[in-house]
Amino acid sequence: MSRIDMNIMIVGTGYVGLTTGVVLAKLGKEKKISLTSYCIDSIQEKTEMINAGTPPFYEQGLEVLLKEVIKEKRLLASTHIAEFINDVDIIFICVGTPSRDDGSMDLQFIQSASRDIGNALRSAKSKPVICVKSTVLPGTTRNVVLPIIEKHSGKKVNHDFGIMATPEFLREGNAIHDNLHPDRIILGEMNERHGRIVEDFYEKLLSGVPLLRMSIESAELVKYTSNALLAMKISFANEISRLAETIPGVDVTEVMKGVGLDERISSKFLNAGVGFGGSCFPKDVSALVDFTKRQDLVPHLLQSILDINETQPIHFVNLLMKNIPEDLEDLTISVLGLAFKPGTSDMRHARSLKIIEHLKQIKKVKTIKVHDPIAMETAREELSNLKIDVTFSKTIEECIQDSDACLIVTEWDVYKKILPKTYQELMRNPFVLDGRRIYDKNEFSSKIKYKAIGLGEISKK
Ligand code: UDX
Repeated sequence: MSRIDMNIMIVGTGYVGLTTGVVLAKLGKEKKISLTSYCIDSIQEKTEMINAGTPPFYEQGLEVLLKEVIKEKRLLASTHIAEFINDVDIIFICVGTPSRDDGSMDLQFIQSASRDIGNALRSAKSKPVICVKSTVLPGTTRNVVLPIIEKHSGKKVNHDFGIMATPEFLREGNAIHDNLHPDRIILGEMNERHGRIVEDFYEKLLSGVPLLRMSIESAELVKYTSNALLAMKISFANEISRLAETIPGVDVTEVMKGVGLDERISSKFLNAGVGFGGSCFPKDVSALVDFTKRQDLVPHLLQSILDINETQPIHFVNLLMKNIPEDLEDLTISVLGLAFKPGTSDMRHARSLKIIEHLKQIKKVKTIKVHDPIAMETAREELSNLKIDVTFSKTIEECIQDSDACLIVTEWDVYKKILPKTYQELMRNPFVLDGRRIYDKNEFSSKIKYKAIGLGEISKK
């Protein structure tokens, strides 16, 4: 068995950084490699929590693994890069790259991480390979990260340290699984030797996973292209779903099932709904649109992905109002699901916020009651920032009680278990509008008033 002694440093302990640090430490143990993950964050409170075995955010399966690697001293969090830089072979930059209001990328965290690494490198004896895992536009690693590190360290790339772009593709809620079983590892290199070091590292830890070496800029673009293509599949399904709603007998879920069986297409990410949210798709497609324009090109298709996504919550609310009898006034609407997807408390770009914003503009809507099994606190914060007043319900029953319509916005498992009978008994005017296609259309429509995204008039069999 191959034995190596290799330590890594992770700069930034968000979803990507901490889960990567934990999983690589765990894999080190499994493969009998002496590997320590040094996880750096500028916020001391976070590093203290991590060292105590408590993740600073919720991610399925993370706490158990974190406790394990902390106990075995395979992971150590700190605020000081300089303390450990001599012990590490690879440094992964995993800080956030949020978008500004105009869609362009805010690089302040990338810049400060590069500065901190550069300063620590100045008096270091080690020659680490620095890998940018954060999502950055093509050219950023070479033209932003590298000059800052060289300036602050006084050292030269390829001689004193290596630089690479190694984007990350994990999903929130599946971060541990995705880190353990990636579809591929993308290695963007400037120098063949450094590419080989990182390739060897991954081969030892994740043997069998396809490793693709390419230029730094290609690697950076792979990440944006992947996210834009996945987001495009969703917007595409949503556009077809609007069409489906106009044709009696058509159901977009049946259409997409038929389409997705074509191996060239695949059925993944073809679920029509109320649109995509989260910390990546909206931000990354916006950044790619902005980047394309700055290259003097017109982002026709990319822009449409965003346009469809922005209008899908309006379309959903319009669908609701079309199905509310004219004479009903002072409506109470229940919203089930607030998080941008199940399994997380994350509300970033959640479609629920847009839907609630639109509902608020409708005069007939008097009360909006909301529920989420996990995201109530983050939702409270977000909605109060937007100055939107809603009623937070502690239970599902409380949320749907006496309402005139119930909107399914996030497909949590607990909502899938609600029976038509429960809606029938609790609601003032039982009507379910399914924005995530969680219910059996035949069962529901035979028992209560049921409409859904992408569903034309239900055919009578
Ligand atoms: C995404 C990418 O999947 C991941 O590779 C990348 O690294 C980060 O961005 P994430 O944002 O965690 O991951 O969530 P994902 O599961 O991809 O869902 C994103 C959004 O798309 C959610 O709002 C989800 O509800 C929506 N979605 C997804 C659909 O509306 N339909 C689908 O078919 C799939």
